[in-house]
Amino acid sequence: MTVGSVRHLYVHLPFCAHRCGYCDFVTVVGREGEHGRYVSALLAELELERRRLDDTLDTVFLGGGTPTFTEARELRRLLDALPDAAEVTVEANPETVTPELAAELRAAGVNRVSLGAQSFRPQLLEVLERLAGPDAVRRAFYSLRDAGFDNISLDLIYGIPGQSAPIWTRISPRR
Ligand SMILES: C[S@@+](CC[C@H](N)C(=O)[O-])C[C@H]1O[C@@H](n2cnc3c(N)ncnc32)[C@H](O)[C@@H]1O
Ligand code: SF4
Repeated sequence: MTVGSVRHLYVHLPFCAHRCGYCDFVTVVGREGEHGRYVSALLAELELERRRLDDTLDTVFLGGGTPTFTEARELRRLLDALPDAAEVTVEANPETVTPELAAELRAAGVNRVSLGAQSFRPQLLEVLERLAGPDAVRRAFYSLRDAGFDNISLDLIYGIPGQSAPIWTRISPRR
């Protein structure tokens, strides 16, 4: 086995408040009582693989599911145990981002947040069965900025039923 050659780590947190109809990822709704056991299992697996990781990684990416739906104490326990990395990203659903959560992520060493916006058109968000509307995306963005994040990305989806190319190029409805 090569020791210490892996410089990128993806960690999956599957818990979601709601299952969006288009989603193909490994997610679970409910089972809130199992966040702690899941994080413990992740950390046990990390120990088994730790020799393969460099001491400091280039990137750590917590994806989901909805990492920011994970019980706050368990998310912090996970972040504290992960290897140091130049870039630590957490995926966040906009409706889960509060000023408190943003500050907590920052304090735990997260320096990049990937927000699942998908679209700024309420009708298309309805098709996707998203819980967050455009205002929630904006609120989340400003909470993250206020907490000191200068690296925020937005996921957008193209190909939603009812979404034409001209609609896509305008991104958000004319006001
Ligand atoms: C797996 S989701 C996790 C992030 C978060 N739960 C959310 O929904 O914003 C990561 C991103 O993958 C994209 N995605 C989800 N389902 C997809 C699908 N079936 N096809 C293409 N992209 C998808 C969305 O843009 C989403 O923001
Ligand atoms: S919130 Fe994200 S991960 Fe969860 S079901 Fe929706 S798209 Fe999938």
